[in-house]
Amino acid sequence: MKPKLENNANSKPVFSIKFPAIVEFVVPLRKAFISFLEIKKVPHELSYMLTLGMSEAVINVIEHTYKFDASKWVVVEWMLEEIEGERELVVTIRDFGKKVDPSSLTPRPLDKLEDHGLGLHLIKKAFDVVEFDQNVAEGNLLRLVKKL
Ligand SMILES: Nc1ncnc2c1ncn2[C@@H]1O[C@H](COP(=O)(O)OP(=O)(O)OP(=O)(O)O)[C@@H](O)[C@H]1O
Ligand SMILES: [Mg+2]
Repeated sequence: MKPKLENNANSKPVFSIKFPAIVEFVVPLRKAFISFLEIKKVPHELSYMLTLGMSEAVINVIEHTYKFDASKWVVVEWMLEEIEGERELVVTIRDFGKKVDPSSLTPRPLDKLEDHGLGLHLIKKAFDVVEFDQNVAEGNLLRLVKKL
């Protein structure tokens, strides 16, 4: 993802945070994200769920795609579009690791008592759309969308 050097008034305001694949760094990412939602007056309960879903997706990249390889980069971007009074939050999570086969992502059955395998449930609960962009040549781009 090539960052634009100029941010003119006509371009959509996009937050972009690039950080090394280290689980601890999800903490400042979460803080920036929830603080953005607070500024945009997203109700607290909803912004909490969105932050949880976003960070579960990022942790999945660090854990499963990158296998905790701290030399790799994660880029998380988000923007809030406002069209005719309708608000939509779009979050993208970009990695440069092995391609994920979306059909291989299997959340565990919820009736099983295990302490892992809840991430995908939380991501899908938080967002209306959870999809991989198939057009990126290298790595993965996960797109999460929520109508607010
Ligand atoms: N980004 C990813 N790359 C590769 N595999 C993934 C990715 N995200 C999820 N998976 C696969 O889907 C499974 C389910 O993911 P999920 O987040 O629900 O559970 P988990 O990461 O194993 O545990 P938890 O998130 O509850 O700590 C993972 O165990 C993994 O096999
Ligand atoms: Mg997970």
